[in-house]
Amino acid sequence: MPPQGGRLTIRTFMDKHLHMVAVQFQDEGVAIEDKDMDHIFEPFFTTKPEGRGTGLGLFVSYGIITGFGGIMECESKKHSLADATSGGTIFTVKLMVIS
Ligand SMILES: Nc1ncnc2c1ncn2[C@@H]1O[C@H](COP(=O)(O)OP(=O)(O)OP(=O)(O)O)[C@@H](O)[C@H]1O
Ligand SMILES: [Mg+2]
Repeated sequence: MPPQGGRLTIRTFMDKHLHMVAVQFQDEGVAIEDKDMDHIFEPFFTTKPEGRGTGLGLFVSYGIITGFGGIMECESKKHSLADATSGGTIFTVKLMVIS
C-alpha cells in the first residue's frame, strides 16, 4: 500500500465444505486492474516501475501453495471515489487439513 501504508487484515477460518484451513490477507491498496487479473500469477509479470519488482512473488507463492495441494485465490476491487477504504485486494490461501 505504497507510499503511505494502510490497513492490512489477516483472517483465518475453516472451509468445512472443502475440509481446508484458510488464511486471507486483505489490504486497502490500489487494487488490481481487471486486465491484469489473468496475469498476476505469471512469472515476471509486474506493474511496478523498472528495478522495483521482479514479478516473481505471486508466481513463487502460487507454486509452493499448489505444490502442497492448496488453493490460492485473489479478489480485488477499486475504491469508490467517496471512500478511500472501500476497495483493495484479498488473497486467500487454502491448505488441506491433515488428520
Ligand atoms: N495486493 C496487491 N494489490 C495490488 N496489486 C497487486 C497486489 N499483489 C500483486 N499485485 C499485482 O500483481 C503483480 C505481480 O505481483 P508479484 O508479487 O508476482 O510481483 P511484484 O510484486 O510486481 O514483484 P516482487 O514480488 O518481486 O516485488 C504486481 O506487480 C501488481 O500489479
Ligand atoms: Mg510481490
